[in-house]
Amino acid sequence: MYAVEVENLTKIYGKGESAVTALADASIQVKPGELVAILGPSGSGKTTLLTSIGLINEPTHGTVVIDGTAVADEGWLPGIDLKRLRREKLGFIFQAHNLIPFLTAQENVMIALEINHLTRSEAKTRATELLGALNLGHRLNNYPSALSGGEAQRVAIARALANKPKVILADEPTAALDTENGKNVMILLKKLAFENHSAILVVTHDHRMVEGFDRIFHVNDGRITKDS
Ligand SMILES: Nc1ncnc2c1ncn2[C@@H]1O[C@H](COP(=O)(O)OP(=O)(O)OP(=O)(O)O)[C@@H](O)[C@H]1O
Ligand SMILES: [Mg+2]
Repeated sequence: MYAVEVENLTKIYGKGESAVTALADASIQVKPGELVAILGPSGSGKTTLLTSIGLINEPTHGTVVIDGTAVADEGWLPGIDLKRLRREKLGFIFQAHNLIPFLTAQENVMIALEINHLTRSEAKTRATELLGALNLGHRLNNYPSALSGGEAQRVAIARALANKPKVILADEPTAALDTENGKNVMILLKKLAFENHSAILVVTHDHRMVEGFDRIFHVNDGRITKDS
């Protein structure tokens, strides 16, 4: 079974003369444990692809299946609980870390767990473990403003992973980092794909980072043109 199955996905923003076709008949299948890159020029549809898979951007046509659950077929399927699926199956990592500024590193991770109904003390234990595993054990009580870019991005990764999602979606996760921190983030994603058996889709412009992916997809003008 695939973790992500997208078939003939088309996304048209707007209507009439101002309509923009951001994705046209794009298909992609990713297995559990696979780390894949999505490359392409600015405006080619990479973020649209990721947010459609991420259940935050309704496809116009085509089908999306996440971890065996059909979620879209000519738009969202009726009766689909998008919020719940997002919470239970997906983890997001963005270019800017999006940490909550008035929560500590530990609390930023705890909040993702508490949303999924862990008690406060369970959440605290798991957040401490996760941050420790990302070499942030000494930064638990720091606020985001007191973290380096690489540290903040690792906290954001810990938060995305907190619920062991089947699918991790990362939009340029290394763009704001220097080469060394960027490489460390990629090594970490690789390890996570393997250990948690998660499918990880990484949008990147960053040609320094393309080693280590299992497969590379190229997006051009809304079309997935090559799958090497
Ligand atoms: N909300 C929106 N409304 C209208 N058009 C949009 C919207 N979001 C994206 N687009 C258009 O859809 C196309 C694809 O955008 P998308 O953000 O997916 O590209 P991208 O490959 O992620 O680009 P970048 O590398 O710059 O982030 C672009 O032409 C963009 O202008
Ligand atoms: Mg984008």
